[in-house]
Amino acid sequence: MKPRITELFNIEHPIIQGGMHYVGFAELAAAVSNAGGLGIITGLTQRTPELLANEIRRCREMTDKPFGVNLTFLPIVTAPDYPGYIRAIIDGGVRIVETAGNNPQKWLPAMHEAGIRIIHKCTSVRHSLKAESIGCDAVSVDGFECGGHPGEDDVPNFILLPRAAEELKIPFVASGGMADGRSLVAALALGAEGMNMGTRFIATREAPVHENVKQAIVAASELDTRLIMRSLRNTERVLRNSAVDRLLEKERESAGANPPEDIMGEVAGVYPRIMKEGTMDAGAWSCGMVAGLIHDDAWVRELIDRIMREAEDIIRGRLAGFLLA
Ligand SMILES: Cc1cc2nc3c(=O)[nH]c(=O)nc-3n(C[C@H](O)[C@H](O)[C@H](O)COP(=O)(O)O)c2cc1C
Repeated sequence: MKPRITELFNIEHPIIQGGMHYVGFAELAAAVSNAGGLGIITGLTQRTPELLANEIRRCREMTDKPFGVNLTFLPIVTAPDYPGYIRAIIDGGVRIVETAGNNPQKWLPAMHEAGIRIIHKCTSVRHSLKAESIGCDAVSVDGFECGGHPGEDDVPNFILLPRAAEELKIPFVASGGMADGRSLVAALALGAEGMNMGTRFIATREAPVHENVKQAIVAASELDTRLIMRSLRNTERVLRNSAVDRLLEKERESAGANPPEDIMGEVAGVYPRIMKEGTMDAGAWSCGMVAGLIHDDAWVRELIDRIMREAEDIIRGRLAGFLLA
């Protein structure tokens, strides 16, 4: 299968593993790239640019295939050392960067000069068009179903993807709710050139997270996520747990008037406790509705091979069969 995205990133299969805080370490990125997809290291999970440089080196020891780094531009006053992270990416010879969050325009010239291709994650058509206009090479279009930050427009992928296809010239992948061969075929049918998965890749053998996290995803249904921080216009889709219930109660009580400090206990610095220690009620952690479609913790290669086989079977069998009937 050769949609434009495979050529753009020099990968075998049109499947990307999106950046994930405290999940996107070298082990997972290398496993995805070795299986023919595009693995992505999460830049800001590494506390300093030096640590990111080291993580890039570790990944390169585990794969000779292309892999990327995610750089999330956070809407906060004291920004991380972005120039330092970009230097680490360029010096580490990484050729693909997934940007997310705020507009990455300011950082593009340095990365483009170094021959880096940029895929920007967007939750709306207008942001996707902006990404195209500032020179991004591709877009990851993230629907309302997605784990993490779906934005505030609440447009699911069945509408968002064909709308993106109507407007964009650069290639885009479908993100949010993608799990299997059916997702890939649907994404291609709606105009995308591949798919980006987050939650699905957490429930894999190679994902360097605690077993409890994988089990929680496998056990969850499509009804088990909640949207938090709506009142702050910083909505995040997370798996429901006692911390999330507590946080939502605080949001309801404050009717949007709470200063963010009031919910810090549930969201600040909780990822290491959840992802590393497996303390599942320690706080809120991103998870997509797609958990309802995840029933095992496959090896990454098995998962990717299964997706590609299933997609081909659907196209050649089920869909072609309708034409013959
Ligand atoms: C645990 C977790 C952490 C995430 N952290 C980030 C992040 O740091 N930066 C980012 O751009 N996206 C992040 N995402 C979003 C994913 O890259 C991806 O866009 C999203 O998971 C796609 O939706 P899906 O989970 O339905 O596949 C995260 C997602 C999850 C599940």
